Amino acid sequence: MKKNLKEFQQRVLNFYKENGRSLPWRETQDPYAIMVSEIMLQQTQVDRVIPKYLAFLEKFPDIKSLADGNTADLLKLWSGLGYNNRALRLQKSCQTIMKIYDGKFPAHVDALLKLPGIGPYTARSILIFAFNENVATVDTNIRRIFIHEFSLDEKTNDKELFALAEEVLPYGQSGDWHNALMDYGSKILTSRKTGIKARTKQSKFKGSNRWYRGQILKRLVVGEELEISNLIKEWKKEESFLKKIIERMEKEGLIKIDKNKLMIKN
Ligand code: ADE
Repeated sequence: MKKNLKEFQQRVLNFYKENGRSLPWRETQDPYAIMVSEIMLQQTQVDRVIPKYLAFLEKFPDIKSLADGNTADLLKLWSGLGYNNRALRLQKSCQTIMKIYDGKFPAHVDALLKLPGIGPYTARSILIFAFNENVATVDTNIRRIFIHEFSLDEKTNDKELFALAEEVLPYGQSGDWHNALMDYGSKILTSRKTGIKARTKQSKFKGSNRWYRGQILKRLVVGEELEISNLIKEWKKEESFLKKIIERMEKEGLIKIDKNKLMIKN
């Protein structure tokens, strides 16, 4: 096992040295920028994230600027990424960091886990990429590599996967190691090649609740006037179906409803 482990680590790290992707968030160690990238990458493909990430940091270069930022600007920059709640949670996190940590990034897993929108994967990935901390994390690519390399059952749970990840982590090289794994997983040990599927299938996007939510927000942030009755006609949907989506958005603080009219909540 030990010998195999060394070989595995060398193979993955060598691949990265020779074929690693150059990605904008790999050029920085700013924990705020890393946090932005990781939140964007949670559910969106790398290629789609790159331009959004760059534009986002241009407008909101640091924690304070995002904490004080205007919600409409924020959602406009987020449009196209989907899951707009992520943007609002990210802003809330920055507001919390300003208030509780005096604007200093809390570089500890327990503190990060308390921030909205940050779970075990993201908390660890921020510490890894910003501070090269000797902790491990497992995303869908990394999970696939481990299952393939160590002949694990596809049902292996997160607790076991994270424990294994800690064991195979090359000490002192956490940042490079995780970048290397992500590239090795997306280029070499792909889902197609290994036959290992992602754990949860994403629902069909168009026509999903998420699609309607995204459409509504996207149009509101560019100043379009939206009325519920018109949307029902345009989309040929049941009134109760759309109302449910819209009321949920209002409850989450994304929009305001004034009779028939929808507005962005500022
Ligand atoms: N997906 C999530 N984080 C990533 C990263 N740092 N590089 C590439 N893909 C990622």
